[in-house]
Amino acid sequence: MAIDIRWDKRFEVGHLRIDSEHQVFLDLIRSVSLASEAEEPKPWCMRLLNEVRKYADFHFLSEENIMLRCGFPEYPEHQQKHAELLALLDERIHAYATDRINLEAVVVFMFDWFAMHTTKMDKKIGKYIDGLEE
Ligand SMILES: [Fe+2]
Repeated sequence: MAIDIRWDKRFEVGHLRIDSEHQVFLDLIRSVSLASEAEEPKPWCMRLLNEVRKYADFHFLSEENIMLRCGFPEYPEHQQKHAELLALLDERIHAYATDRINLEAVVVFMFDWFAMHTTKMDKKIGKYIDGLEE
């Protein structure tokens, strides 16, 4: 049973740039999910995973710059979490590339990670910036 990957209001962080990057990111995960359901060839699926990996890297840098620019106090922990997530993602992609897990397992990992990280950690950035503007 494939998981339903679509944007939901609960993912909103309340920061225009972060939210728009998150929407692109979720869309990339959705593409991998659809490729998994359609059982598309592995080299193509690897290209899609590579796209997710590169976007995650870009997005984390972008989010870290936003945190630094506004003096977000929890930057060190958040940056550390990003590094851990990238390492985990690399590990899962490698496991798929070497036939140790299937693509659906990578999709579930990416979606859980996305849902958890945006609703818990990233929301704090939006709240902090809102507080600065009051
Ligand atoms: Fe984040």
